[in-house]
Amino acid sequence: MERLDKFLCDCAVGSRSQVKGILKTGVVTVDGVPVKDGSCKVDPQKMQICFNGTVLSHRGRVVLMLHKPAGYVTATADAHQPTVMELLPGEYRKLELNPVGRLDKDTEGLLLFTDDGDLLHRLISPKHEIPKVYYARHEGAATNEDVQAFFQGLTLGDGTQCRPAKLEPLGAGESLITVCEGKYHQVRRMMASRNMPVLYLQRRQEGCLILGDLPLGQVRELTEEEVASLEK
Ligand code: URA
Repeated sequence: MERLDKFLCDCAVGSRSQVKGILKTGVVTVDGVPVKDGSCKVDPQKMQICFNGTVLSHRGRVVLMLHKPAGYVTATADAHQPTVMELLPGEYRKLELNPVGRLDKDTEGLLLFTDDGDLLHRLISPKHEIPKVYYARHEGAATNEDVQAFFQGLTLGDGTQCRPAKLEPLGAGESLITVCEGKYHQVRRMMASRNMPVLYLQRRQEGCLILGDLPLGQVRELTEEEVASLEK
């Protein structure tokens, strides 16, 4: 437990004296109740502390990795289908986290979340060309011609031009695919365009980040080093 006024200062709401004035106006709430007394003790891990309606957190920015299972849409809200937000443990639901990019409902694997808007935009910007590695089980078997076609940049059935990508056959019906862009259903459409419809798709790597043995449906916070690697 810590003092409310100290917590507000740590969250950069204002200086000690500014916080005192802010508290008087009643715009700070603890679990929905306006609190004007800065000496009040709070537990920011368990209580929801808001300033002008925005949830505060002094833990710095948060970047999470989820091993997304199939069956969840990548969205912050959806009227009809379960979303990836439902997979986040309660302590993270209070934060303003957004998924970084998108995995299809049926795709499993590495999905990042952050509450840092700048980092989010940098990671999803096509300018940064972060390579993403997917494991696919698919019909057919990849040939050298398929590898070449990926390398040269595929043109999909609707005329969409893809940037050069890497196709690594692992054996009959299994491949690794590396792409540096994120078009709609990209890997599935690329594979289908070479007569290898995808049966199962899992994202295993994004930049330097590796899904590793994070269990399906589980979340972990990235280390500072991992976050730094994303910013390079
Ligand atoms: N490509 C796809 O087809 N689906 C995904 O979820 C990600 C990449």
